[in-house]
Amino acid sequence: MAPMMDWTDRHCRSFMRLLTTRAVLYTEMLHARAVVHGKREQLLGFASGQSPLVLQLGGSEPDELAQAAKIGADYGYDEINLNVGCPSSRVQSGNFGAALMLEPDLTARLVEAMREAVSIPVTVKCRIGVDEQDIEQDLDRFIDRVASVGCEHFIVHARKAWLSGLSPKDNREVPPLDYDRVYRLKQRRPDLQISVNGGIETLAQCAQHGKLMDGMMLGRAAYHNPFILACVDHQVYGEEDLAMTRTQIVEAMVPYIDRELANGVRLSSITRHMLGLYLNEPGARHWRRHLSVEACLPGAGVKVVLDALALVESIREEAACRVS
Ligand SMILES: Cc1cc2nc3c(=O)[nH]c(=O)nc-3n(C[C@H](O)[C@H](O)[C@H](O)COP(=O)(O)O)c2cc1C
Repeated sequence: MAPMMDWTDRHCRSFMRLLTTRAVLYTEMLHARAVVHGKREQLLGFASGQSPLVLQLGGSEPDELAQAAKIGADYGYDEINLNVGCPSSRVQSGNFGAALMLEPDLTARLVEAMREAVSIPVTVKCRIGVDEQDIEQDLDRFIDRVASVGCEHFIVHARKAWLSGLSPKDNREVPPLDYDRVYRLKQRRPDLQISVNGGIETLAQCAQHGKLMDGMMLGRAAYHNPFILACVDHQVYGEEDLAMTRTQIVEAMVPYIDRELANGVRLSSITRHMLGLYLNEPGARHWRRHLSVEACLPGAGVKVVLDALALVESIREEAACRVS
């Protein structure tokens, strides 16, 4: 699961972890400075059982990133990932994110500083290039330089980022996807782990990429249709098929929701990540609408979720009767 700001927060990850025990989950990007100086528990805390879990950091100061990586490792994250793919103007003004693709030496220093600070893996998520970069030579140079300090896993979003002129959203859609470029990278550097990201929507597509790639990272498709993840352990990792039904997943969320509400969390902060659970299923619209409206009301509790479940279940039963 890809790192996604405002989306892959700790509640989202607790939900996703019920769907798959094996897929690697990423946090949202956190700036190293916020981790070092900010409210740590709020930023880094997570419920147990989210492993394998990667903390994604942004930044361009070696000392700050090293400190943040150490704090993350002490918090129990399994891996630290450096963001070299985010093109937002806020990110560029701090000279980090995708802008680092223009600075292989600095990126190598950042990775080196983090690796010295922690014993868990430090990995990089990048693009195939930015702006007018040559996606052949410049990407090879970047990867070789960063790999030379010991980074062994790169997750490559298979499109360029345009640092000016495109919004972050457009930068996830407009520059064309070039999976072949990522495959060529793997062929040239078979010693490295290369994962591909960008535009992957189904597990069938994952299987295709999996013939050449070490990993596949899904973002929007899995967030909007989280039930995709229920087949990952079996279809991608070859585990026995123990996937829960949607109903079981909702029921399994209830104790988590209860605990979080008792700690003062608002129901909608959790349920907003669950809206897509019934996508393309009978009752999907009712599920989404009930949760969207009711979970925002003052005092909303776990009953809202159980009512939404009862509603969707009755619609599904009706639909099943009609079919039979
Ligand atoms: C709402 C949103 C927030 C994102 N935030 C981050 C982020 O914090 N760090 C990052 O590396 N990429 C971020 N991305 C990019 C995704 O990780 C991913 O690279 C991109 O969406 C392409 O994959 P997809 O086509 O499977 O969604 C974000 C994407 C979205 C949609």
